Amino acid sequence: MAKRFTVTTALPYANGPLHLGHVAGVYIPADIYVKYLKAKGEDVVFIGGTDEHGVPISIKAKNEGVTPKEVVNRYHNIIKQSLKGLGVSLDYFGQTSSKGHYETSSEWFTKLSDDGVFREEVSQQYYDEENNQFLADRYITGDCPECKKEGAYGDQCEKCGATLNATDLINPKSALSGNKPVLRDTKHWFLPLDKFEPWLKEWIEEMKPVLKANVYGQVKSWLDSGLHQRAITRDLDWGVPVPVKGGEGKVLYVWFDAPIGYVSFTKQLLEKDPNRNWEDYWKKDGDSQLVHFLGKDNIVFHSVIFPSMLKSMGDYILPQNVPANEFLNLEGEKFSTSKNWAVWLDDFLTDFPDKTDVLRYVLCSILPEQKDADFTWADFQAKNNNELVANLGNFVNRALVLTTKYWGGVVPGRNELTDLDKDVIVQLNAFPNKISASIEKHRYKEALSELMKLSALGNKYLAETEPWKLIKQDEERVKTIMNIALQITSSLAVLSVPFLPETANNLSEMINLEGLKWDALTEDNITEGHQINKPSLLFQRIDNEVVDEQRAKLSQAKDAAEAASKIVEPQKDTTSFDEFQKMDIRVGTIIEAEKIKKAKKLLKLKVDTGIDQRTVVSGIAQFFEPEKLIGQQVSILVNLSPRKMLGIESEGMILMAENNKGELQFVAPQGGSDNGGVIA
Ligand code: 2FM
Ligand code: ZN
Repeated sequence: MAKRFTVTTALPYANGPLHLGHVAGVYIPADIYVKYLKAKGEDVVFIGGTDEHGVPISIKAKNEGVTPKEVVNRYHNIIKQSLKGLGVSLDYFGQTSSKGHYETSSEWFTKLSDDGVFREEVSQQYYDEENNQFLADRYITGDCPECKKEGAYGDQCEKCGATLNATDLINPKSALSGNKPVLRDTKHWFLPLDKFEPWLKEWIEEMKPVLKANVYGQVKSWLDSGLHQRAITRDLDWGVPVPVKGGEGKVLYVWFDAPIGYVSFTKQLLEKDPNRNWEDYWKKDGDSQLVHFLGKDNIVFHSVIFPSMLKSMGDYILPQNVPANEFLNLEGEKFSTSKNWAVWLDDFLTDFPDKTDVLRYVLCSILPEQKDADFTWADFQAKNNNELVANLGNFVNRALVLTTKYWGGVVPGRNELTDLDKDVIVQLNAFPNKISASIEKHRYKEALSELMKLSALGNKYLAETEPWKLIKQDEERVKTIMNIALQITSSLAVLSVPFLPETANNLSEMINLEGLKWDALTEDNITEGHQINKPSLLFQRIDNEVVDEQRAKLSQAKDAAEAASKIVEPQKDTTSFDEFQKMDIRVGTIIEAEKIKKAKKLLKLKVDTGIDQRTVVSGIAQFFEPEKLIGQQVSILVNLSPRKMLGIESEGMILMAENNKGELQFVAPQGGSDNGGVIA
């Protein structure tokens, strides 16, 4: 093992809260890894923070009429609090808009620029002459060259998904002024990834044995398709200013400065620590291992671009592993902020303040380690009830309650061991290494399932030995059984720390034993005569209503987002007053209504129009039961030329209003009126 570990979590953009997808992809595995390393007594710095630059943040600030700094501070705090609530023990959670980060990223850029690492090139980019500024891709809209629809952005058309260059757009417009932008020369700095390709190829092959297959596969295919230089500066005003000559009015590209955040945050963490030096965690002679946790969309940045930057800096270490995860879905659909299809971490913590370990458990048990996974509320409930309550909670409770009941909580000693006892002890002693091996290979699902096998072993042992039946005849035998059950319980208190920190803590309190070490676990963790505390239940069952409510909340939020995003029908061409006057719309009342065979959408209605009683065929069958329509007042266009539909002559049209979900409602006089009344 290395002397030190630097463990990082990808920095989420500070323009929204975290959802369970972020948590499962990055924070749960990273936190398990770090808690494990710390339980083993390793020296670790665990670094995270928020990514606070980039155009979407500027746009959000502009839309809200506030500064970008206000936006990022708001979300930084929300994210930081929610991670704390989940028990993620980051040593530092920084901000890329902090002064220290600006200093470090400027130093990096200056050094790399002075060392001649970058290429500088002039190219043409769109410029808004009214606002006197170059336009980032997201600030240019136009018609998509692929699907021809309006409203495509300079980098992508959201209607057809095409990836675009701003100069491909038809009729480009500046989102700032609405004017047509002009092309102007601008200079940018480029990272020559093509030059790094040979050593990157070698390095990735060296890393192959430790890399997860999904990570190696993605990097390899990137490298095989050939690397190109990448612009690392932008013409924007929000970001780290380009610190060299000619860089006025330009900032570092968000993906250039963000990973430097890992370094600047380590410096911020350790600047006042007299015993530790940030360089030991980042530089070659410090004997440190660097591990980046991230989602699959960030693989290339952490295994190609940032390593290229680290290597170019000269004396920095390269990542030892990049255990990236695939994506988590929610109830079978992708998480989507715009569709509000998400379980937000801060909402979860408000709704379930005492269930953070349940969430950690469920997410860990479904981690998208090799392929995308799915979070469902049904599974959340089932895993809580059938695994945490019925397996872990049940075993611990039996062990502690029986000890309390038989001997007032004083740990009994062991007598002669049976073959079964010996076998259980051998199995018990194998668990710390098994769990360690899985964690060190970044197989967290497997590690958690090993932990649950330990409590299953305890349950099976108690079920087979039935101490509650034996107590009357053979208390000495029961003492041995319960002693072994308590050794298992105390191992669980230590081995569950990385996965279920709160539970582990409760358990340590109940067994009244602290300071047990992962590497020192044996069948003698807890000694004869030791007094345990009063036990209480570790987990509670979750009822159907609780998860039903969460599912309802999800679909309500989605409907609201859908309604809010629904595009209002554009206005039709103008019509003259005379044309409008030709329409004779009257108040009428439905007096008969029936379904029409073979027509799912149509109803045959008889309407009293005040003028006569006439038949109208209306496309409202999906929304109303015929028998409930009798007596409904309506607005009816009475002078529409009669039309035959499915052999029925329809004389008029009933006016309906459509809501954002496509549902229909009658347009009728409020409070009722007389049939035949003119609507104008
Ligand atoms: O994809 C993202 O959410 C980025 N903000 C991740 C940045 S990770 C790192 F490099 F800082
Ligand atoms: Zn398109």
